[in-house]
Amino acid sequence: MAKPKRSLPATRWPTRTEAQNSLVFTPTQVGSFQSLTRSWVPAMVPWRATEEGEVTPEVLEWYGRLADGQPGVLVVEATGVRDVPSGPLLRVGDDRFIPGLQELVRTVREHSAGRTRLVIQILDFLPIRRRPERHRYLLEFLIITQAHREAMGGTADESAIREQLVRLDDAALQKVLSPREWEALNYGYRERVGDLHIKTIRELPKVLPDLFAAAAQRTRQAGFDGVELHMAHAYTLASFLSALNQRDDGYGTSLTGRQRLPLEVLKAVRARVGKDWTVGCRILGDEVVKGGSTIEDACSHALALAKGGVDYISVSKGGKFEDARQPAVGQAVYPYTGASGEECMPTVTHFKHPFGRNLHLSHSIRKTLRKGGHLIPVIGAGGVGTHELAEKALREGDCDLVGAARQSLADPDWWLKVQEGRGEEVRRCIYTNYCEGLDQKHRQVTCQLWDRSMETPDANGEIRLSSDGKRRLNAPPWKR
Ligand SMILES: Cc1cc2nc3c(=O)[nH]c(=O)nc-3n(C[C@H](O)[C@H](O)[C@H](O)COP(=O)(O)O)c2cc1C
Ligand code: SF4
Repeated sequence: MAKPKRSLPATRWPTRTEAQNSLVFTPTQVGSFQSLTRSWVPAMVPWRATEEGEVTPEVLEWYGRLADGQPGVLVVEATGVRDVPSGPLLRVGDDRFIPGLQELVRTVREHSAGRTRLVIQILDFLPIRRRPERHRYLLEFLIITQAHREAMGGTADESAIREQLVRLDDAALQKVLSPREWEALNYGYRERVGDLHIKTIRELPKVLPDLFAAAAQRTRQAGFDGVELHMAHAYTLASFLSALNQRDDGYGTSLTGRQRLPLEVLKAVRARVGKDWTVGCRILGDEVVKGGSTIEDACSHALALAKGGVDYISVSKGGKFEDARQPAVGQAVYPYTGASGEECMPTVTHFKHPFGRNLHLSHSIRKTLRKGGHLIPVIGAGGVGTHELAEKALREGDCDLVGAARQSLADPDWWLKVQEGRGEEVRRCIYTNYCEGLDQKHRQVTCQLWDRSMETPDANGEIRLSSDGKRRLNAPPWKR
């Protein structure tokens, strides 16, 4: 049965004078820089870098186009602090990435006429493998242990054990494999911060502060206005902050233990880049997984980071591996599925009203910070796609700058259209997550609404298509 069509709630766009008098378009300080407006474009990975993590012409087009709308702050996608293969995701784990990033900064300055401040999000993530084919997992990847030998009648012949395991049905196999082995078979092997038996995991507290500090220094050299330490979603620092972090080496269990490495990373970054440059953090207001962190933990994390000298806190929600949907064989598990994923990028498909859905979290964090005497700005996001909602969020103290990721993707010019009193021309995001589906497959991210304007060429007179030749690669230009 066809799904019923949903229409977006009506909104009243402000006149030019109303817009210019609105809070959204007032300046505010974010650490060392002044943002000319309170509009914010949170990080979005467009999968347009080279396989070696370098800036490409497509990356420049993506950020140049987002900068055309002159948001107060634009955050560049999650960029790896290590120089390791990670698909077409930007990296900053070596000095050779600096020239490309300098080009990116120049592009944004040019496209925004110098009006957009540019921050880059940096992250670390742990190894994860694709879901294996059952036979291959049991015959090649599974490490045969004493437990398997005993369950299979004590035979010493490893290949005989493997053959026996292959012949078991799923119910019997589940009884023989450990929960982690069962998970590796059904979801793909994934390391966790609590795997202290693995040397690289045990040594994360030794290596991460320096990796983040070196990466942050490179981004400063490249000319960014600040750096955002990614402590949200399914990535390493978020996993340290998580209530699920059971490391017993002083870097887990209690709130102090869980906050220890993120604070050490912040301290190392600050020591390397100095006090006169913006260092922010993105954290989760709620992990939305069983036993995970809640808003109370998040408020404590925000306070600790503020005491540690962070310049802003950006708030997100969910996006965890723990409840992610089972991937198909050959695919990697994607943290933006399952309940926590749905809360991260709320859609009309799952929620009657995804609009401004997560702002209560930034509200509570901001309130806690103010109570603790910290005046640093808090950034909220989640289903904000109208000026009315953005203004309400600022007026009601939900945040100090208001983030709109997908709306800015759907129409990068929307901030400027509103500012000029031309809100009726905004191409409104319909929040069905077509873009997120592409992100999931690591394909170049585009918006389904752009393809409706195939007759309108880009500024250079052409229409660039995605590498599959099927989609418009860049947002159609605004005919002013
Ligand atoms: C295609 C896509 C890629 C994203 N990549 C990132 C990312 O790299 N880092 C991050 O913190 N959030 C990422 N997000 C989440 C957004 O920053 C934002 O928090 C989320 O989409 C909710 O805001 P919205 O409702 O305004 O879109 C991504 C979202 C989308 C749609
Ligand atoms: S693809 Fe859909 S959800 Fe994504 S930005 Fe475009 S309209 Fe919004």
